[in-house]
This record gives sequence, structure tokens and C-alpha cells, in this order.
Amino acid sequence: MLITAGSQQGIDLVSKLFIDPGTPVALEAPSYLAAIQSFRFFGARFQPLALSPRGIDPDELRRLITHERPAFVYLIPNFQNPAGFCYAREVREEIARVLDESGVPLIEDEPYRELMYDAVDRTPITSLLKRAPWIYYGSLSKTGLPGLRIGYTAASPDLHPLLVRIKQSTDLHTNRVGQWWAAKFLAGSDYPAHLERLRSRYRMQRDIMADALNRHFREIGEWQVPAGGLFFWVKLRQLCDTRALLTAALAQGVAFMPGEPFYTDQDVPRGVLRLNFSHASAEQIEQGLAKLAQVIRTTPALEQAAAT
Ligand SMILES: Cc1ncc(COP(=O)(O)O)c(C=O)c1O
Repeated sequence: MLITAGSQQGIDLVSKLFIDPGTPVALEAPSYLAAIQSFRFFGARFQPLALSPRGIDPDELRRLITHERPAFVYLIPNFQNPAGFCYAREVREEIARVLDESGVPLIEDEPYRELMYDAVDRTPITSLLKRAPWIYYGSLSKTGLPGLRIGYTAASPDLHPLLVRIKQSTDLHTNRVGQWWAAKFLAGSDYPAHLERLRSRYRMQRDIMADALNRHFREIGEWQVPAGGLFFWVKLRQLCDTRALLTAALAQGVAFMPGEPFYTDQDVPRGVLRLNFSHASAEQIEQGLAKLAQVIRTTPALEQAAAT
């Protein structure tokens, strides 16, 4: 296990290890924005895999590997960012089989693992692998303090020593004060109760947002209620550039994350956006969604953006 400056540093180490200009990298579409940024910075050529609520399609992964073998496959199987989806157990098993057959490394990123509100299978795909190399990320950012910048990277024995060397040349080691706090936090008697408090608060926030979406967005879009994590992924019926929608929403004091930056190719679905439910109060969620629905219904610029 390597302690890193957030799991984001693990993503940076993997980029340095695997990616040269033009290196093929397979990942979900949509995927985590800052992983895309890191992989792109090092010159990755993306091989996007369509993501459904049950996960990526293992057959599509098999075909992709046969066609052009990627340097690795990067997945967020639990409470995915941005889509909130959680992979079905059979899909996890089949992905493990495909990777074992081909020997393509798996990079599995799990910062939302502990934020589960409904019981679902969360078996790490890395734990199902028999042969393929793997790297697994965890983080304290979603359950402890994001500003502490403490995460961890576990890796198969063939990859671990390489990551240690890259980490050393990057920053020698992760700050000790942060590690000391993290160790105390994790070993403290209150840790399980803290997780339980987080889960029950975020579950309540999620349900409040689900309820508000049902009232304000039923005619405007569709979504799934996530079993964990921090986000609703809403597909609007109106095809629009959600970056233009954000400008209009900000003018009304409402922020959300546009969907476009979570995709790597030109063929970006239009009218998809990510809503966070952990931060705002119940009242803000209600008011924010009412205002956003109003903006979507009434902003003429959106129609223009959709038409171009
Ligand atoms: C999927 C995913 N991976 C990694 C990170 C980075 O987290 P950390 O704060 O541990 O660097 C995030 C943060 O939002 C994330 O959503």
C-alpha cells in the first residue's frame, strides 16, 4: 500500500507509468473529469466504453481489447462519478474474466465506497482477478477531510515497486502530519459511528433530492436514484449544451456540473448534467431545483445551443 496525496495522486502516478503520447486508454463514458484531464495531459488516446446502470458491457470491452489493446482500463464501479451507477455482480465477474484472459491491467477507483445508502454488491473487481495486473485507489476525501489530501494506492506486486519509485521522484512521501491525523481518525473508536452518521445524513439528502426531482423535473428529464455516492445524473429531454445552461442557472444563483466535460470524444451526449445532493440544505435543494427547472423551461439561448 502506498499512501498518496489524495487518490488523485494515484491517477497521476499511473499516468506517468503508462501513458506516452498516443497511448490507448480504455475508460467509461462518462468518466471522472480529473482522471480524463490527467490521462489527456500525458497524451492518452481514449477508447470510451458506454456506461449503463449495470456497468460497462464486458463484450464491448473484449471486442475493444481484441481490436486494439489498451495500456489499461480505468473504472469506477461503485457509485460512479459522475453517473452514480453501481456495477452488477455478474458484470464485475465477467470484466475480471476478460481482463484475466487478456492480461490488460485494471485501474479501479473507489473514493465513494463507504457512502452506501441502499445495500448493493460492492465487490472490488480487483479482488476477482486471478492473473491481470491491477491498481486500486481509496481516499479519505469523501469520509474524512478532502483538504487533508490523504488517499492510498494498492497494487499487484508487479506494479507496486514501479509506483513507489515514481512517487519518490514526485514528492518523496505524503505529508506526515496528514498521515498522523488520518491514522488517528481511522483507528478512533468513533470511526464506525462517524460513517453511520454520514450515511444517514447523505441518504436523507439523496431522498430529498429524489423527491424534489420528481416534483420539478418529471416532464423535463430522467434519472436513476443512486444507491450511494454524491450525485444524480440527469438526462434532460431537451437536447442542449449544459455549459450554456450553467451560465443561465448561475445568473439565478444555482450551480450544477455540466455533463460535457465527463466525456472524452466529440460525440458527447447533449443535455446531461450532474447534481450534487450532499452539500446543500433541504431548503436549498428544493429552491435550487425549482429555479433550475424554470431556467430550463424558459431560457431561449438553450434552444439556440441545441440547434447549433
Ligand atoms: C472518481 C474519483 N477519483 C478520484 C477523486 C480524487 O479524490 P481525492 O480527493 O482523494 O484526490 C475523486 C474526487 O472527486 C473522484 O470522484
